[in-house]
Amino acid sequence: MAVDRDPAPARPEVPSGNHPIAKSPIHPIEGPPSPRPGTGSSPANPTWVRLAAVADLAAVAPGSCRELRVADRVIALVNDAGTLRALDAVCPHRHGLLSGGRVANGVLACPQHGWPFDVTTGACVDNPAIRVRLYPVKIEAGELLIEL
Ligand code: FES
Repeated sequence: MAVDRDPAPARPEVPSGNHPIAKSPIHPIEGPPSPRPGTGSSPANPTWVRLAAVADLAAVAPGSCRELRVADRVIALVNDAGTLRALDAVCPHRHGLLSGGRVANGVLACPQHGWPFDVTTGACVDNPAIRVRLYPVKIEAGELLIEL
């Protein structure tokens, strides 16, 4: 009997084991501006919503990822060596949650089958035509905000 196998891109090397709690400051990086169909948000009229309190983000250690939900979105909040980035958490392969993955060298590997995503662009490393959405984030008044 034949086995249905999807060709998955090669897995990036991802370190295993526990990582210490972030001791260095966390810096959010805003992603590229883009129109937000259906939300009324646009580069000229961004819609920022609260994602989390900055005080709660110390548990998002470098190299780790946390699942957060806002509006109707599931967000993978990534600590990329001290820089926070927010990506859609639903993997375009088979809809696994990227939020269970690990980050190494700027690449988030899906924990399901290992598809690698560049956390600075959302693009799949092995096929840039496949991507997850990268959301702009910023910190204001002790809150991490995300542009939807
Ligand atoms: S690589 Fe298969 S669900 Fe993400």
